Amino acid sequence: MKTRAAVLREVNAPWSVEEIELDDPQPREILVKTLAAGMCHSDEHAHNGSMTVPLPVVGGHEGAGEVIALGEGVTEFEVGDHVACSFIPSCGKCTWCARGMQNLCDLGAHLLEPGMMAGGFRHHSGSGEDITPLLKLGTFAEHMVLSVDSAIKIEKDIPAGPAALVSCGVTTGYGSAVNRADVTAGDTVVVVGCGGVGMSAVQGAHAAGAKNVIAVDPSEFKRESSMNFGATHTAVSMEEATALVGELTMGVMADSTILTPGELTGEMILPAQFLTRKGGTVVATAVANEASMDVSLNLFAFAMMNQELKGCLFGSTSPRKEIPNLLSMYQAGQLKLDEMITNTYTLDQVNEGYADMMANKNIRGVITFD
Ligand SMILES: NC(=O)c1ccc[n+]([C@@H]2O[C@H](COP(=O)([O-])OP(=O)(O)OC[C@H]3O[C@@H](n4cnc5c(N)ncnc54)[C@H](O)[C@@H]3O)[C@@H](O)[C@H]2O)c1
Ligand SMILES: [Zn+2]
Ligand SMILES: [Zn+2]
Repeated sequence: MKTRAAVLREVNAPWSVEEIELDDPQPREILVKTLAAGMCHSDEHAHNGSMTVPLPVVGGHEGAGEVIALGEGVTEFEVGDHVACSFIPSCGKCTWCARGMQNLCDLGAHLLEPGMMAGGFRHHSGSGEDITPLLKLGTFAEHMVLSVDSAIKIEKDIPAGPAALVSCGVTTGYGSAVNRADVTAGDTVVVVGCGGVGMSAVQGAHAAGAKNVIAVDPSEFKRESSMNFGATHTAVSMEEATALVGELTMGVMADSTILTPGELTGEMILPAQFLTRKGGTVVATAVANEASMDVSLNLFAFAMMNQELKGCLFGSTSPRKEIPNLLSMYQAGQLKLDEMITNTYTLDQVNEGYADMMANKNIRGVITFD
């Protein structure tokens, strides 16, 4: 069939919205009509080359839609089901899935390889060139073909925008606080970078009972907005936050510091370490340039203060557990998702949406489809 998609052919070129050819779903794949796609910063890492992806690529890895056709042997879904995508696949059979750590599913090893999870290509340009769907999803398209391992069934009455957000950013940020930083009641938590991921970490820290949630962001809009999502204090920079956290904790410093800026750099680790108490935890969630190897850290203090530095993929949680869980919290009024969608865009406005993200105009921008 023919569909329309946002395609990237060269690093830093604009996304090209064009008609592409989409093959029928193959065994263990589904065809999904896209209803909404979230604009996560990780697509920008693909766009600017700090994360190498196979080009050409259909962008987008946050999304939700309706199943409209099934490949052979699909028993998990029926036509008409609604799904949230998960760039983290979950096979259910590898040792990590069996241990309840689906964010580490072995299928993830293929995420940055060309083509589909099952091999081969379903996406082609008008001239017959094969196109890879980003992270095996490619949500910036009117239709998607994806593996059953990358889709989570959700309730049909959940609006598509919120469903798209829990597909990556919200689950990642919320879990960075609740699962990886292990926030408990009374904690002091610093969240550095309050876009879609960081604002969800603020919500997670608040939900876990943190006493002080310090939102750090150079953007005034993000700092002001953070107070509506559970932040108790704000700071422009980690340096400014250090004095504030010192005052709030009588010099003890934060139980955890969560790093969710647009791009992580090695120099951010030392100020995060200074913000964090002895025995405390620094969580690195944001994506760094893949070539980045050096980290600033006071190694002496790191050992002597018994501190932890933890990486965090997809909120250190299992998509099949957490996506339905967060959506049920949204339905119960316990998680703010509508409020996180600052602006919506058409597929043709994808470049405008990313320019707005980089200009800090959005907590999250969402592409909506008819
Ligand atoms: N680990 C994972 O599984 C995972 C999943 C999704 C996204 N990510 C990554 O998380 C990061 C955040 O994504 P997002 O979609 O929320 O991005 P975003 O662009 O929506 O928000 C980033 C925010 O960081 C702020 N910021 C930039 N530099 C800062 C600094 N030095 N100090 C404080 N704040 C700063 C910006 O003002 C902005 O508000 C990205 O690197 C993204 O690729 C990681
Ligand atoms: Zn993402
Ligand atoms: Zn697995």
